[in-house]
Order: sequence, then structure tokens, then C-alpha cells
Amino acid sequence: MNTVTYNLTASAFEWKIAETKTIKARGFNKTIPGPVLKASKGDTIIVKVKNELTAPTIIHWHGVRLEASMDGTSITQQPIQPGKEFEDRFTLPDAGTFWYHSHHNETEQMEKGMYGALIVEDPADPVFDGEKIFMIDDMKLNSNGSFKTGNPVTRWVERHDGREGDTLLINGKENPVINIAGGQTERWRFINASSARYFQLYLGGRKFRIIGSDGGLMQKAEETDRVLIVPGERVDIIGGPFSEGEIIAIESLPYNRMTFVKAKRRKYATIIAGQPQPSVAVIPDSLRNIESLASTDTPVNRKVKLSVGPSLKHGIDFLVNGDVHTHDAPVEVGQLQVWEVSNTSLMDHPFHLHGFFFQVIEENGKGVENVKWKDTVNLPPRSKIRIAWMPDNRPGKWMYHCHILEHHEAGMMAHFEVVSPAQVPAISDHALACHN
Ligand code: C2O
Ligand code: CU
Ligand code: CU
Repeated sequence: MNTVTYNLTASAFEWKIAETKTIKARGFNKTIPGPVLKASKGDTIIVKVKNELTAPTIIHWHGVRLEASMDGTSITQQPIQPGKEFEDRFTLPDAGTFWYHSHHNETEQMEKGMYGALIVEDPADPVFDGEKIFMIDDMKLNSNGSFKTGNPVTRWVERHDGREGDTLLINGKENPVINIAGGQTERWRFINASSARYFQLYLGGRKFRIIGSDGGLMQKAEETDRVLIVPGERVDIIGGPFSEGEIIAIESLPYNRMTFVKAKRRKYATIIAGQPQPSVAVIPDSLRNIESLASTDTPVNRKVKLSVGPSLKHGIDFLVNGDVHTHDAPVEVGQLQVWEVSNTSLMDHPFHLHGFFFQVIEENGKGVENVKWKDTVNLPPRSKIRIAWMPDNRPGKWMYHCHILEHHEAGMMAHFEVVSPAQVPAISDHALACHN
């Protein structure tokens, strides 16, 4: 187990999304996405974050099971003020595809590019010929490359639908051409970093296998020709092998999430297969064993209801259990959580839990096979799922929220605390604290 150290500097800079298109971005180390941070399972990572923006910021490590004090939200940390630094330090207990992003004024900072990938490897992972990361994003730009601010009507649509733009990006570039050698089998890691765009991956009808979810490898691969990846979510697939000369469009098929603005089929990138190379890839059928935390008979101990309601001030509010920015009851370390999460609204919401993985054990009354580790899951309109998760010994303040950034901002989130049974301080400690 090693310690790996990275430096991330948040700043404003000019970024070329295409040969002739430059935007005024915000990001890390002057690239969009920020640098790929890599480590191995069990490593300790130290990330020295410097804020050279004119506004405060804070970094959240999406999907990492770290201590609450490193979660990067304003309930556990002070935002990093302009000119200031913060050192993040935590161990990485899980292998998988993770990411980091600003968790401060996200609707602006993430929209402008403040995100990057965090890849945690495991020596026991299947062997591939290579790997690619696809960070999906979109931006809403004026023709001169500035970010659209809009008028009250478009802002209302944005509050309702989430902000979607017409500029589609993979790894910070518009319609990039990406090469792969013929005959090679790669691990392709998709991360949806957009504010609100639902990305339904499609490779021109080719069948491909999904091997990983938010929390690393799945038990066994699932074959499909399309997969929905919602904001915040990650999906790993097997890319290839392709034959020399094959051209593969990375597309998104329309998915109707009941917004005002309807989705269309769109192309994000082009893959070109070159000269063949020998392959050393070995991908077993069974990838990992995941024990189910609960069965469909396990009693539910909490209900979380996502809904929308009228608002005098904003027209519409986004709610958890009938409230904006809800405070939910604490959970105790070691007590299995089985939550019924429902969406009574008429649009989709990607539900995200900070700091812990859950398993979806039931969907609309039906048990789920091939359970996987998740931290973000989509809830279609009028749907209901059951999730199970175990609060391990990481007490502190956590949250869950809709990962459509505008909905999160408009109130669809809740704070809650993980408490340890022995958290009541001893008298002497308490006295000490009071007299300091
Ligand atoms: Cu990626 Cu609070 O979220
Ligand atoms: Cu998160
Ligand atoms: Cu939502």
C-alpha cells in the first residue's frame, strides 16, 4: 500500500473545446476534465488543492468511502477561499471508477468544467489491452463561446429540466476522434459529469458487455446494445475488439425523462480502429462475488420520497419528504439500512448517496438479480425502489440528493448523520471541551 500525492489547482482559463471554439472555463490544472488521478485499492491519496479562483470552492470525491471530514461538502468542511489551500487525505478502500467535482455553487462551477476522474485499480482486476475514460458533459454556450445566462423563462425551464446545452463533450472536447488498435479489448469507463443530461450509450447497434457500476466490478457481465448513464453515474464496459478500418460512433439514444425540451439522438465521439495488435486481454465470466445485504423480505426502516411542489417564489420546488433541504433522522453505525426511495413526481431523478454504496434490492415491487454496488441510481416518474446499505464505522454528517444539479440546488436533498452507538462523549472529555 502506497501513498500517492497529487496537486490540483482550481482556476479560470481558456479551454479549446474544438479547433475554432474556445471557452472561458473553470477547472483543475487548466484542463477539462481535470487530471486523471490514479491509485490502487488500499492506497492513501493526498490531494493538495489550491484555489486560484476568485470564488470559494470545495471538492467532493464522488463514490469514495472516505471519512465524513473529507467528503467535501460545506456541512463537513469550510469551502476553500480564494488564494487558500486544503489538503485532502484519505485511503481508497474500493477499486472502481470514481470522480471528483466541485461541490460549491455546482450549477456554475461544474457546468464550467470543475470535474475529473479518479481511477482506483486492483491488481486482481481482469487484464485488458488498454483503458479509456469517457467523461460525458454538455455545455450551454452562446455562439461566441460564453456561457448562456438566459432570461427568466429559460431559467425557469432550467430549474425544471436541469441545465442542458447543445455543446456535447467527451473529455472536454467536441466530437473527438479516438483511436484503438484493431483486435484490442479495452476497459471503457464512462462517467456522466453533466448537470442534467441523460446519456444512453449506443454503439451503432453493436452488442457490448457492461462489467462495472459505480462501486467497481459487477458479479457478472451483462450484454446489451444500450445503457442509460444518468448524471453522477458510472458504467464500465468492454470496448472492442474491432476490425481494422471500423468506425464506431459513440452516440446517445434519446431517453424521455419528461422534460420540456425533448431528447434527440446525438453523436459524442468517433472511434477509429487501426492496425491490429495482438491481444493479451483475459476477462472471466464471473467478475466478483457480491453478497446481498438484504432480501425483499427485510423490513424497510426508512422512506425517502422525492417529489415536486408549487412554490410562490420559484414556481416549483424540488422536495425530499415534502421539504426543501431536508434534515433526515440519524442512522446508527452497524445497523443495516433498508430504504424505500420513491419518486412521486412526473419526471426522472438520479438519487445519489454520499460516502456509502448501496444495493438496489427491489424495483417497483420486483426483486433484483445480479445486485451491484451503486451510489447513484435513476428513479423514473412514479417509481419506487428499495435500497440496502450498511453504515460502517464512519460517523459524521452525510447527505443524499438528486444529481440533477439544479434540482439539488432547488432543494431535492437531505442531510443526515451517521452516529456511533458510543458517540455520547465521556464526562471528562466533555468537561475538557467546555473549559477550553
Ligand atoms: Cu457527485 Cu453531492 O455529489
Ligand atoms: Cu457524491
Ligand atoms: Cu431531480
